[in-house]
Amino acid sequence: MATAERMKGDVKDLALAEAGKRKIEWANQQMPVLQLIRKRFIKEKPLKGVRLSACLHVTSETANLAITLRDGGAEVVLCASNPLSTQDEVAAALTRDFNVPSYAIKGEDNATYYAHVGAALDHKPQLTMDDGADLVTTLLTKRTELVPNVIGGTEETTTGVIRLRAMAADGTLKYPIIAVNDAQTKHFFDNRYGTGQSTIDGILRATNLLIAGLRFVIAGYGWCGRGVAMRAKGLGADVIITEVNPVRALEAVMDGFRVMSMTEAAKIGDIFVTVTGNKSVLAAEHFEHIKDGAVICNSGHFNVEIDIPALERLSISKRPMRPMIEEYQLKDGRKVYLLGEGRLVNLAAAEGHPAAVMDMSFANQALAAEYLLQHAKGLKNQVYPVPEHLDRQIAKLKLESMGVQVDKLTPDQEHYLASWQEGT
Ligand SMILES: NC(=O)c1ccc[n+]([C@@H]2O[C@H](COP(=O)([O-])OP(=O)(O)OC[C@H]3O[C@@H](n4cnc5c(N)ncnc54)[C@H](O)[C@@H]3O)[C@@H](O)[C@H]2O)c1
Repeated sequence: MATAERMKGDVKDLALAEAGKRKIEWANQQMPVLQLIRKRFIKEKPLKGVRLSACLHVTSETANLAITLRDGGAEVVLCASNPLSTQDEVAAALTRDFNVPSYAIKGEDNATYYAHVGAALDHKPQLTMDDGADLVTTLLTKRTELVPNVIGGTEETTTGVIRLRAMAADGTLKYPIIAVNDAQTKHFFDNRYGTGQSTIDGILRATNLLIAGLRFVIAGYGWCGRGVAMRAKGLGADVIITEVNPVRALEAVMDGFRVMSMTEAAKIGDIFVTVTGNKSVLAAEHFEHIKDGAVICNSGHFNVEIDIPALERLSISKRPMRPMIEEYQLKDGRKVYLLGEGRLVNLAAAEGHPAAVMDMSFANQALAAEYLLQHAKGLKNQVYPVPEHLDRQIAKLKLESMGVQVDKLTPDQEHYLASWQEGT
């Protein structure tokens, strides 16, 4: 553990470690698939001696992934993938008690955030693990001397995968990446049920609003947007969707939601959630007409979905109302309430996704790291999916842990499905 031991980490307060350990243990109880992988990793040490730098939300679920990778033999260092999502007690416990030096302090400024990304890169990673592609982007633009060390990397979220595919397309990507986000056992569940529940959780913790009866506008009806819509509807909201993709918009209509332009929705919405992976989805032209008292927040990866500079320009004053709520007063007296500085509201104001769903996402991460070590030589500098057999294995293990039985194809059925002559 030479390199990892030399690294010290940078956390808010190591004295928080005891509370962090209990939090990590609590999450572990909800992560049976990762537990099984960890047991095997302890025996087989498939990552033995590999230097791994991870840039992920520093939460109790991530801690269990980092411990699994460490138990697989990797020398792991961790930095935050978002300045507001860090659980300081978890970062302290990882650094003090689990030999996973962590560089993450909740509320760190931009300069510290990137200094922490830099510190994680000082580990000279052979594997990178990203959530949003900040680590790989920094490595490929500012730390190119590290490229020859790298065997491969993994990416956790939609926005990161989009960035990495763009890099692969123009030849900037210099090593293979596995798109964990694209595994079915990741985005079907994490993006939909995880983001769905935890986004509502973040809004509730920040505002304590009664959702029933409110007009709840969701920009983007992708995997995350569907999840948020489903849960907002369950709480009795009048859900309105805005979209740019006609197929997704049609799906929202047939799922029973009202669909309209953001220009129209801005005038009537009480709560707005952007979850598109795009920029300026709520922008100056919407703030011109936005309903007085509107609560606005973002659950997409970057804090550019709400054009905060435009909101600042259009406002005459601002003041903190409660933790995670900033009140902006517009020139005509209307007020707009921004949650969590426009950063991922589920991580800024709540705790991110529940452990039971991160169990599958992080099982994909652990198995993808192992796969990369075994197969990287045959891979190009491209973005690859998680192999289907791993995806299915994770679904099977999760079902087993839930005590759910499924049927098996009979040989006769297999033959029927594989044959074009049958069915006539
Ligand atoms: N909050 C979290 O914890 C969390 C978890 C997973 C993913 N994410 C992030 O959430 C974002 C969305 O992820 P996803 O998996 O749902 O992606 P997705 O591609 O399935 O869906 C995004 C949707 O937004 C729509 N869209 C794009 N621009 C728009 C605009 N201007 N107005 C309205 N709709 C627009 C697209 O047409 C698409 O249907 C990404 O940034 C992703 O990284 C966040």
